[in-house]
Amino acid sequence: MRVYASHPNVYYAGSHNNMKLYTLNNCEGSRVYGENLIYYKGKEYREWDPFRSKLAALLILDSKLDLFSKNQICLYLGASSGTTISHLSDMLSEGIIFGVEVAERSMRQLIHNTSQRINIIPILGDANYPENYAKSVFKEVDIVYQDVAQPNQSEIAIKNCNYYLKKNGHLIFAIKSQSIDSIEKSEKVYREEKKSLELSGYEILESVNIHKFAANHIILIAKRKI
Ligand SMILES: C[S@@+](CC[C@H](N)C(=O)[O-])C[C@H]1O[C@@H](n2cnc3c(N)ncnc32)[C@H](O)[C@@H]1O
Repeated sequence: MRVYASHPNVYYAGSHNNMKLYTLNNCEGSRVYGENLIYYKGKEYREWDPFRSKLAALLILDSKLDLFSKNQICLYLGASSGTTISHLSDMLSEGIIFGVEVAERSMRQLIHNTSQRINIIPILGDANYPENYAKSVFKEVDIVYQDVAQPNQSEIAIKNCNYYLKKNGHLIFAIKSQSIDSIEKSEKVYREEKKSLELSGYEILESVNIHKFAANHIILIAKRKI
């Protein structure tokens, strides 16, 4: 088991072609989605499945990213029942993650699965209306993570970043081409989403194709310039 360079509380085992990712469990004994728990030198780690979590896929496919530190504040859009946000909670162990989710059923599961994780603040809300959760998101954020699979994904990302993301903060944006246009070629959809971000004052730092783990998805990393 080795420390994963520049990602707090992330560890890996195995070779590059068969890598297993883990986070140090900041909520000992608890699982969120049936993941394996392993023990190493007196500590407990949760296996992080890249087929269930696009952030795990991103870290496996682009190990040079240097975006995270333990005390960051993150706004997470599309928290669902808690799979990825729980691993972010392990990573940002001294930070805060505001998790926005529109579906009541998913929100109930999120609360059930993560209530012991004191750095997650669940927010039942629609990411199309960022002003509606301004009282809950009481700080500027370092990172916006978005995975909402909606036709207006970039509009949602830009609205939320303009509202909450600090200057030079990062957007991590999972784009599902089929949610935007099921007929158009993925590459064209991705190009248009990038252009919308650039025209709104965001610099695209990376574009990572994660098709190996999640069909028709890329992840964009963008920086707020203004
Ligand atoms: C692909 S799933 C997210 C999976 C999750 N990010 C993970 O890795 O654990 C997309 C989620 O976005 C939520 N969602 C869709 N539209 C939304 C909106 N406008 N505001 C907030 N959440 C939304 C859906 O209800 C769904 O739970």
